[in-house]
Amino acid sequence: MRIDILTILPKLLEGPLSDSIMKRAQEKGHVEIHIHNIRDYSTQKQKSVDDYQYGGGAGMVMMIQPIADCIEKLTSERKYDEIIYMTPDGEVLDQSMCNGLSSVENLIILCGHYKGVDQRIRDLFITKEISIGSYVLSGGELGAAVLVDAVVRLIPGVLNDETSALTDSFQDNLLAPPVYTRPEDYKGHKVPDILLSGNLPKIEEWRHEQSVKRTEERRPDLLD
Ligand code: ADE
Repeated sequence: MRIDILTILPKLLEGPLSDSIMKRAQEKGHVEIHIHNIRDYSTQKQKSVDDYQYGGGAGMVMMIQPIADCIEKLTSERKYDEIIYMTPDGEVLDQSMCNGLSSVENLIILCGHYKGVDQRIRDLFITKEISIGSYVLSGGELGAAVLVDAVVRLIPGVLNDETSALTDSFQDNLLAPPVYTRPEDYKGHKVPDILLSGNLPKIEEWRHEQSVKRTEERRPDLLD
């Protein structure tokens, strides 16, 4: 997979995408992540990327030209499956959307700032608008990092058996069961006996029951 991210704050993305599983996924060749600084595409003298909004009102709007030039350069080089805009008024990200995106070849992700991007960018280029939750971030970068992390870890081969996504919360619309490691007894707080029994079918049954119980208690909406 190839992911091109358009941003005015590249540093915000470099950190989260250059460590741990995201680092390994790139080193192993499962994903290529290219970060483009929108400012580099500005034809203005001051390299500006935003301007006052027509009709008045507080807050700047990201201009069409640098974003359009960057998107057009990329789309002239290869075909993209989706051109995504990160925005609080987009479709709320969930695991099934991540599963779907993990099997595509090429993605562009545009990070907004200020009051957002000129509506014509959305009308002309964007194929999917994604929000990571019902709150407003200072910009789309942290949302894009969340999206990339959640998608890339689902690409076959990125996770090994130990970190397999198959047992994640949400993968079957259930939350993950509780987990324990050494010691068996911490100041009188014991690990459930069943996990020490060695009876694998019984352990699986217990884990499933715990998942259902947790989901009923914490996220009953997932069971609808
Ligand atoms: N940009 C600002 N807020 C956002 C959100 N909640 N999700 C995605 N992008 C955003």
